[in-house]
Amino acid sequence: MKIALLGYGKMGKIIEKIALSRKHEIVLTIDHETLHDLTPENLQKADVVIEFTTPASVLSNIEHCFNANVPVVIGTTGWYEKLPEVKQQCIDGNKSLLWASNFSVGVNVFFHVNKLLAKVMNKYPYYEVQVEEIHHTQKMDSPSGTAITIAEGIINNTDTKNEWVNVLTTDDKDDDANVAPNQLLIESLRIDSVPGTHTVIYDSEVDSIEFKHTAHNRNGFALGAVLAAEWLHDKKGFYSVEAMFDFNS
Ligand SMILES: NC(=O)c1ccc[n+]([C@@H]2O[C@H](COP(=O)([O-])OP(=O)(O)OC[C@H]3O[C@@H](n4cnc5c(N)ncnc54)[C@H](O)[C@@H]3O)[C@@H](O)[C@H]2O)c1
Repeated sequence: MKIALLGYGKMGKIIEKIALSRKHEIVLTIDHETLHDLTPENLQKADVVIEFTTPASVLSNIEHCFNANVPVVIGTTGWYEKLPEVKQQCIDGNKSLLWASNFSVGVNVFFHVNKLLAKVMNKYPYYEVQVEEIHHTQKMDSPSGTAITIAEGIINNTDTKNEWVNVLTTDDKDDDANVAPNQLLIESLRIDSVPGTHTVIYDSEVDSIEFKHTAHNRNGFALGAVLAAEWLHDKKGFYSVEAMFDFNS
């Protein structure tokens, strides 16, 4: 398969390595210095685009891919308030897009089990639930896209919570955050060079349950993005990565 990479930062470089190891060809690499190469003709040399840039660039990159009519896999986080709009454009224009807040297999298993756990815990409302996420200090968005997906998995499967609130700290002092009973707290902690840890905690007076995923490095995200490109390249439509994993079948 011929792949175009939009964004050649930490993720773009690992994706390139994994794509080459799976016998794909990288036909275009775009970062700040090569933005002038981002033309419809160049994009059309690829069977599929993989985009890992910044929240400020992702929407115009999606537009470039839609205009060139090339399927695009989006890894960039921090733009999800625009998801409904982008979905509509994708469907109306008969384009192809797959997005994920997190491409790793382990995290997607975690998302699935998180929803099942939320359904079970809904029967025991004396457990208070919260989400904690820890990332490296360069991370631009907070809470992480992964933490938002986890929070939505809980909110959609419990009666007591209907919105999330975020508290961002740069130390791990356990300050008590002020949240209403209907709000699900997401605590975000930024520590140098941590690729990503997410924990769901159910706490009661008598005990607590912790459900935790720790990323050891970025390779799992990159492999998932390449698998998503392989899955998407001959499809039309708007997909989240859940469609690819399909744990229910
Ligand atoms: N979905 C996932 O599984 C997953 C995993 C890891 C990171 N991410 C997200 O992916 C994004 C990138 O992460 P990263 O760690 O590679 O960041 P990074 O800062 O190392 O790389 C981003 C790169 O994008 C480039 N860039 C900025 N604007 C651009 C544009 N208009 N066109 C092309 N390139 C442009 C920057 O110069 C930089 O090299 C972030 O939003 C991060 O949260 C998602």
